[in-house]
This record gives sequence, C-alpha cells and structure tokens, in this order.
Amino acid sequence: MVKKSYILVCGGSACEASKADAIYESFKKILEDEGLKNDVQVVKTGCFGFCEKGPIVKILPEEEFYVEVKPEDAEEIVHETIIKGRPVPRLLYKDKDLKVDPKADKFDMNKIGFYQKQFRMRKLSHSLDQTESSTR
Ligand code: FES
Repeated sequence: MVKKSYILVCGGSACEASKADAIYESFKKILEDEGLKNDVQVVKTGCFGFCEKGPIVKILPEEEFYVEVKPEDAEEIVHETIIKGRPVPRLLYKDKDLKVDPKADKFDMNKIGFYQKQFRMRKLSHSLDQTESSTR
C-alpha cells in the first residue's frame, strides 16, 4: 500500500526554462497510469534557491532531493521512490564538501553546503512580525 506522498517540482523561472513543466506533466501522467493520482499529489513550488542544479524535485515525506531532473526521470522516481520507498542515487545531489552522504537513509537538504551558507529571510521576517506584535 502506498502512503500519501507529495512530489514537489520547482516552478521557478530557471527550472521552468529547463523543462520543469514537462517534468510536472510526466509525473501527472505516470501517476494516472499507475492508479496513484489519489495517493500522490504533484505540486509546483517556488524557487528552491538552487537554480544551478535545477530542475529540482523533492519528494515528501521521504525528503529525497533530486537535482538536474529530466522529464524521462519521472517514471523511475515514481517506481523507485514513491512505490518502493528508495532513492534514485544518480539523481541525488552530491555535495563537493562531503557534508551530505547520498547513501544516508534520510537526506536533509539543509546539510548541503550551499544551503548552510544561506540565511532564510522568511524566518527572520516572521520572527520580526511576532516580536513586533508581542511588544504592542
Ligand atoms: S528556479 Fe528552481 S531552484 Fe531556482
């Protein structure tokens, strides 16, 4: 039995320019063909902030983070990750700084060196809103 899963396809402009639309449509068609469209939701997201490695696809709840995905990869991702619950190693991001072990059971994209050097402005903005409202 397949649990509820989400396939997040980056819909940012850089990934769109690299066929993210076709990737999204491939996932929809394969899920329909496999009878999984009610168990798996395909969602277009905003930019993941990692455009140079796009198109990006993230699978939840497995947290698999796939880079440089092509439309023809969708079938393998559905069969391996969604149905069998295992990653597609060739699509996992390989961190040059070796901060990420692509063979680890649970992959955390926040361990990628690229993301560790970033500061999430949305969190700051949210925190500032809370601070501001609590001081009124
Ligand atoms: S547009 Fe996809 S990661 Fe930026």
